Amino acid sequence: MAEPSILFVCLGNICRSPMAEGIFRALCEEAGMQVHIDSAGTGSWHVGEPPDHRAIQCLKGYNIDISHLRARQVREMDFDTFNLILAMDYNNLRDLHRLMPSSSQVRARVHLFGEYTGLNPVEVPDPYYGTAADFEKVYHMLHRGMQNLIMRLRHG
Ligand code: 4NP
Repeated sequence: MAEPSILFVCLGNICRSPMAEGIFRALCEEAGMQVHIDSAGTGSWHVGEPPDHRAIQCLKGYNIDISHLRARQVREMDFDTFNLILAMDYNNLRDLHRLMPSSSQVRARVHLFGEYTGLNPVEVPDPYYGTAADFEKVYHMLHRGMQNLIMRLRHG
Protein backbone atom coordinates (compact mmCIF):
# COMPACT_ATOMS: atom_id res chain seq x y z
CA MET A 1 0.00 0.00 0.00
CA ALA A 2 1.32 3.49 -0.85
CA GLU A 3 2.35 5.75 2.00
CA PRO A 4 -0.66 7.72 3.23
CA SER A 5 -0.41 11.48 2.89
CA ILE A 6 -2.24 13.94 5.09
CA LEU A 7 -2.54 17.72 4.90
CA PHE A 8 -3.77 19.64 7.96
CA VAL A 9 -5.49 22.93 7.16
CA CYS A 10 -6.44 26.00 9.19
CA LEU A 11 -6.81 29.70 8.35
CA GLY A 12 -3.33 31.17 8.80
CA ASN A 13 -1.10 28.06 8.99
CA ILE A 14 0.65 29.58 12.00
CA CYS A 15 -1.33 28.16 14.96
CA ARG A 16 -3.52 25.06 14.69
CA SER A 17 -2.34 23.29 11.54
CA PRO A 18 1.43 23.54 12.22
CA MET A 19 0.66 22.26 15.73
CA ALA A 20 -1.30 19.40 14.17
CA GLU A 21 1.60 18.68 11.80
CA GLY A 22 4.14 18.61 14.64
CA ILE A 23 2.03 16.47 16.97
CA PHE A 24 1.08 14.00 14.26
CA ARG A 25 4.68 13.69 13.04
CA ALA A 26 5.87 12.96 16.58
CA LEU A 27 3.15 10.32 17.11
CA CYS A 28 3.83 8.66 13.74
CA GLU A 29 7.55 8.46 14.52
CA GLU A 30 6.75 6.94 17.89
CA ALA A 31 4.43 4.42 16.23
CA GLY A 32 6.94 3.66 13.46
CA MET A 33 4.46 4.74 10.79
CA GLN A 34 5.50 6.21 7.47
CA VAL A 35 3.12 9.04 6.60
CA HIS A 36 3.68 12.08 4.41
CA ILE A 37 2.55 15.03 6.56
CA ASP A 38 2.18 18.72 5.76
CA SER A 39 0.07 21.72 6.75
CA ALA A 40 -1.28 24.81 4.98
CA GLY A 41 -3.62 27.75 5.44
CA THR A 42 -6.67 28.78 3.43
CA GLY A 43 -5.47 32.41 3.75
CA SER A 44 -2.25 34.01 2.55
CA TRP A 45 -1.57 36.66 5.22
CA HIS A 46 1.18 34.73 6.98
CA VAL A 47 2.86 32.95 4.08
CA GLY A 48 6.57 32.41 4.78
CA GLU A 49 6.25 33.07 8.50
CA PRO A 50 7.19 30.62 11.27
CA PRO A 51 4.40 29.39 13.56
CA ASP A 52 3.04 31.80 16.18
CA HIS A 53 5.45 31.99 19.15
CA ARG A 54 2.69 30.71 21.45
CA ALA A 55 2.24 27.61 19.29
CA ILE A 56 6.01 27.01 19.30
CA GLN A 57 6.16 27.52 23.06
CA CYS A 58 3.20 25.27 23.78
CA LEU A 59 4.63 22.34 21.82
CA LYS A 60 8.09 22.87 23.27
CA GLY A 61 6.50 21.85 26.56
CA TYR A 62 5.75 18.46 24.96
CA ASN A 63 9.21 18.10 23.39
CA ILE A 64 7.96 18.89 19.91
CA ASP A 65 9.84 21.47 17.85
CA ILE A 66 7.89 23.25 15.09
CA SER A 67 10.05 26.40 14.89
CA HIS A 68 11.43 25.41 11.46
CA LEU A 69 7.99 25.24 9.79
CA ARG A 70 6.97 28.06 7.43
CA ALA A 71 3.41 28.99 6.53
CA ARG A 72 2.07 28.37 3.06
CA GLN A 73 -1.32 28.65 1.43
CA VAL A 74 -3.35 25.69 0.14
CA ARG A 75 -2.75 25.20 -3.59
CA GLU A 76 -4.81 23.35 -6.21
CA MET A 77 -2.15 20.66 -6.50
CA ASP A 78 -2.70 19.69 -2.86
CA PHE A 79 -6.05 18.16 -3.77
CA ASP A 80 -4.23 15.72 -6.03
CA THR A 81 -1.09 15.20 -3.94
CA PHE A 82 -2.70 14.25 -0.63
CA ASN A 83 -5.14 11.40 0.08
CA LEU A 84 -6.60 13.13 3.08
CA ILE A 85 -7.07 16.83 3.85
CA LEU A 86 -8.32 17.65 7.34
CA ALA A 87 -9.76 21.07 8.20
CA MET A 88 -9.69 22.46 11.74
CA ASP A 89 -13.09 24.21 11.66
CA TYR A 90 -16.17 24.57 9.46
CA ASN A 91 -14.94 27.84 7.93
CA ASN A 92 -11.72 26.14 6.86
CA LEU A 93 -13.77 23.28 5.38
CA ARG A 94 -15.98 25.68 3.44
CA ASP A 95 -12.93 27.59 2.15
CA LEU A 96 -11.29 24.31 1.10
CA HIS A 97 -14.32 23.48 -1.01
CA ARG A 98 -13.98 26.89 -2.66
CA LEU A 99 -10.29 26.33 -3.39
CA MET A 100 -10.85 22.82 -4.73
CA PRO A 101 -10.30 22.42 -8.49
CA SER A 102 -12.83 20.68 -10.74
CA SER A 103 -13.32 17.03 -9.85
CA SER A 104 -10.99 15.37 -12.38
CA GLN A 105 -7.97 16.55 -10.44
CA VAL A 106 -9.20 15.71 -6.97
CA ARG A 107 -7.78 12.63 -5.29
CA ALA A 108 -8.05 13.86 -1.71
CA ARG A 109 -10.85 13.16 0.69
CA VAL A 110 -11.62 16.41 2.50
CA HIS A 111 -13.04 16.26 6.02
CA LEU A 112 -13.37 18.15 9.25
CA PHE A 113 -10.55 16.93 11.52
CA GLY A 114 -12.82 16.59 14.55
CA GLU A 115 -15.47 14.68 12.62
CA TYR A 116 -12.94 12.31 11.11
CA THR A 117 -11.32 11.63 14.48
CA GLY A 118 -14.45 11.64 16.67
CA LEU A 119 -13.84 14.81 18.67
CA ASN A 120 -16.60 16.44 20.70
CA PRO A 121 -16.87 19.41 20.26
CA VAL A 122 -16.04 18.83 16.64
CA GLU A 123 -14.21 22.09 15.76
CA VAL A 124 -10.68 22.95 16.88
CA PRO A 125 -11.16 26.61 17.88
CA ASP A 126 -8.91 29.37 16.57
CA PRO A 127 -6.54 30.37 19.42
CA TYR A 128 -5.03 33.40 17.60
CA TYR A 129 -6.84 36.02 19.68
CA GLY A 130 -6.68 33.88 22.81
CA THR A 131 -4.22 33.11 25.58
CA ALA A 132 -1.60 30.43 26.27
CA ALA A 133 -4.41 28.41 27.87
CA ASP A 134 -6.24 28.34 24.53
CA PHE A 135 -3.13 26.95 22.85
CA GLU A 136 -2.97 24.25 25.54
CA LYS A 137 -6.59 23.40 24.85
CA VAL A 138 -5.80 23.12 21.13
CA TYR A 139 -2.87 20.84 21.96
CA HIS A 140 -5.07 18.47 23.96
CA MET A 141 -7.82 18.38 21.33
CA LEU A 142 -5.32 17.70 18.58
CA HIS A 143 -3.48 15.06 20.58
CA ARG A 144 -6.72 13.23 21.34
CA GLY A 145 -7.81 13.35 17.71
CA MET A 146 -4.42 12.21 16.43
CA GLN A 147 -4.54 9.03 18.47
CA ASN A 148 -7.82 8.15 16.77
CA LEU A 149 -6.39 9.14 13.40
CA ILE A 150 -3.49 6.72 13.90
CA MET A 151 -5.95 3.94 14.78
CA ARG A 152 -8.01 4.68 11.67
CA LEU A 153 -4.90 4.59 9.49
CA ARG A 154 -3.70 1.35 11.05
CA HIS A 155 -6.99 -0.48 10.80
CA GLY A 156 -8.14 0.98 7.49
P1 4NP B 1 -4.63 29.54 12.60
O1 4NP B 1 -4.84 30.87 13.46
O2 4NP B 1 -5.66 29.55 11.53
O3 4NP B 1 -4.84 28.46 13.61
O4 4NP B 1 -3.21 29.60 12.07
C1 4NP B 1 -4.93 32.15 12.89
C2 4NP B 1 -3.78 32.81 12.51
C3 4NP B 1 -3.88 34.09 11.98
C4 4NP B 1 -5.11 34.70 11.85
C5 4NP B 1 -6.25 34.02 12.22
C6 4NP B 1 -6.16 32.75 12.75
N1 4NP B 1 -5.19 36.02 11.36
O5 4NP B 1 -6.30 36.58 11.35
O6 4NP B 1 -4.19 36.57 10.92
